[in-house]
Amino acid sequence: MAETNLSIAGLRAGYGSLDILNGIDLEVPQGQFVALMGPNGAGKSTLLKTLYGMTTVKGGTIRWQGRDIAGLASREILAQGVSFVPQGRCNFPLMTVDENLQMAAYTLRDAKVKSDRDYVYELFPILKKRRATIAGNMSGGEQQLLEVAMAVLQRPRILLVDEPSVGLSPAAIGIVFDELLRINAMGQTILLVEQNTKKAMEVAQRAVILRLGQVIWDGKPAEISHDELGELFMTGKMRGETEAQH
Ligand SMILES: Nc1ncnc2c1ncn2[C@@H]1O[C@H](COP(=O)(O)OP(=O)(O)O)[C@@H](O)[C@H]1O
Ligand SMILES: [Mg+2]
Repeated sequence: MAETNLSIAGLRAGYGSLDILNGIDLEVPQGQFVALMGPNGAGKSTLLKTLYGMTTVKGGTIRWQGRDIAGLASREILAQGVSFVPQGRCNFPLMTVDENLQMAAYTLRDAKVKSDRDYVYELFPILKKRRATIAGNMSGGEQQLLEVAMAVLQRPRILLVDEPSVGLSPAAIGIVFDELLRINAMGQTILLVEQNTKKAMEVAQRAVILRLGQVIWDGKPAEISHDELGELFMTGKMRGETEAQH
């Protein structure tokens, strides 16, 4: 059985006095590609931000490689091998791909800048071809890939990615997801938040559905139909389930 790398138990977190996560339990074995889904406002982004030390933890534990990282600062969490790709584009659009990667390495205060860029180029040949291109002139898919690459510079043991497909064309989404699949096949553990449920179910080995800050479904994508998924999003219940069962 695969080693469990990330073990979240009874996690409660939010913003100041506002509670958003209401007792999350989730175990992610090393190497797994997990899609985190659920309706808007379910707490998906909050969960990723909490894993990365960007919210207020109220209770529970986040054991990462045997150590509780709940409440640590982002920098300390990053140093433990957790990288986060937040939603939206945050590259430097007037700089080249190479300069962007250099900037990302600089903010990580990484001495191995050159070797790390080479590592990223080996991993993503698409970006290598584009190394002298101004980031803002690339396609949306390539720009999103650059965001992922900037996080991968750190050689994370787990990659947290928040909605990389937002605003991208189907072709661009294809590029990003193909590359995520490829690095997962090389052993990269990925926790992906995705609204594009169809795409997420295609690539992920496991789907975890959040609603109102709790996990309401956890299983293999093949075990749930698209219709059932929609219903679960809306009602929080599986088809056939009645109020009396709750
Ligand atoms: N920085 C913040 N301060 C206060 N409330 C926030 C903040 N970010 C998100 N929220 C609230 O937390 C809830 C969950 O948001 P979020 O985790 O972004 O949901 P999702 O990513 O599932 O759509 C929402 O009600 C949202 O309004
Ligand atoms: Mg979100």
